[in-house]
Amino acid sequence: SLDLAKLDLKSLVRTIPDYPKKGILFRDITTLIEHPEGFKESVERIANAHRGQGVTHVAGIEARGFIFGAGVAIAMGVGFIPIRKKGKLPGETIGQNYALEYGVDTIEIHADVLDDGDVVLLVDDLIATGGTAIAAVGLLRRTGATITHAAFVIDLPDLGGAAKLAAEGVEVTALIA
Ligand code: PRP
Ligand code: ADE
Repeated sequence: SLDLAKLDLKSLVRTIPDYPKKGILFRDITTLIEHPEGFKESVERIANAHRGQGVTHVAGIEARGFIFGAGVAIAMGVGFIPIRKKGKLPGETIGQNYALEYGVDTIEIHADVLDDGDVVLLVDDLIATGGTAIAAVGLLRRTGATITHAAFVIDLPDLGGAAKLAAEGVEVTALIA
């Protein structure tokens, strides 16, 4: 039988070179989430690392952050906030531009979704340059909410994003480096 505590999540991530551009080593989590124990363990390891921190909401970043973030929210018994790409949310929004490893984009949340007193755990599949996560933390903080922790399935430490996020006062954890 499979000892879940020892399950090697890294071995379930596939690497595809030169996607979406030449020179990018794309870390593909579709192979991880197709694996039932791999997906469940990823979500549970993140949830277990953040119990007792007063988390009131999990926020996940479109699109791959929704996959893990929704599971973490259910596992922790809190609500889920989708941080969406521009133009997708129907209510009044606040937005933040950011630079990607391979492009530029804008993320948005509903303007009324959080208040001071809320404590948000940010979840995404991967942190690379940190541009997306730093934009997300800035956006969430504009509501008055507190963001002290961010959790990723994968950190690409050579790209420096986790260190930049830590400099913003966010404790960063990742299941795989
Ligand atoms: C990827 C990934 C992170 C971000 C990390 O998302 O899911 O959100 O890039 O890069 P960074 O640390 O350099 O900002 P992408 O924008 O490709 O969107 P997707 O989830 O819709 O594929
Ligand atoms: N998002 C940003 N950089 C990435 C990479 N190298 N692999 C997968 N997703 C990414």
